[in-house]
Amino acid sequence: MQTILCMNAKGGCGKTTIATNLATWFADDGKRVAVMDFDPQRSSLDWLGARDDYEGVPDIEGIDAAHGDARAAHGTDLALLDAPSGIYGGEVTQLLRRADTLLVPVLPSPIDMRAATRFIAELLKSGRISRGQTRIGLIANRVRENTRIYHALEDFLAEYDIPLLTHLRESQNYIRAAETGLGIFELAPSQVAPDVVQWDPVVAWLARG
Ligand SMILES: Nc1ncnc2c1ncn2[C@@H]1O[C@H](COP(=O)(O)OP(=O)(O)O)[C@@H](O)[C@H]1O
Ligand SMILES: [Mg+2]
Repeated sequence: MQTILCMNAKGGCGKTTIATNLATWFADDGKRVAVMDFDPQRSSLDWLGARDDYEGVPDIEGIDAAHGDARAAHGTDLALLDAPSGIYGGEVTQLLRRADTLLVPVLPSPIDMRAATRFIAELLKSGRISRGQTRIGLIANRVRENTRIYHALEDFLAEYDIPLLTHLRESQNYIRAAETGLGIFELAPSQVAPDVVQWDPVVAWLARG
């Protein structure tokens, strides 16, 4: 089973958005997918609750992992681990131990970039990352292209020896998908085409795992 963790101590940067949308990408591709929600706010599980109302979209297993030692069902191909905000130290280490891949979303905002400096420094101290047991990739999220702050974010992330996999633009499609329990890949293609292509490098990088 491939395990992909979406984690950043900063709230609101896109952990749940990335976990849920990637879950649909792989489920639509015929994989058996689980979302393990480590956040007591249960945003991923709420999203799956909305998804249950739909016919004709592939099932995704939801696992409440905020309490106790939850595991995905036998035969699961891929698990998306949705981390809570505000975690550090031992909690970060414990989640890293469960993941072979880590995606870290960062927003183009001074507050988020300062917080990311601390969080990435903590990650780079982890033996899992330095030994290459957990691969790490960055995602710039909620980007408005051609803004000064987006270029500042790109320059900031380029300082690290960690690949910047893609940027996801600020788009109402993510809000719509979050509301309805779908992924952007499951919305009308004519509406989501500019968003969908931005995931190609992420999927390609994950496939190289
Ligand atoms: N690229 C995006 N465009 C528009 N809204 C977004 C985007 N990414 C996330 N959001 C919205 O921002 C809010 C926070 O995102 P979320 O994924 O819940 O963050 P986290 O799980 O890190 O706290 C949510 O309302 C989500 O729908
Ligand atoms: Mg979340």
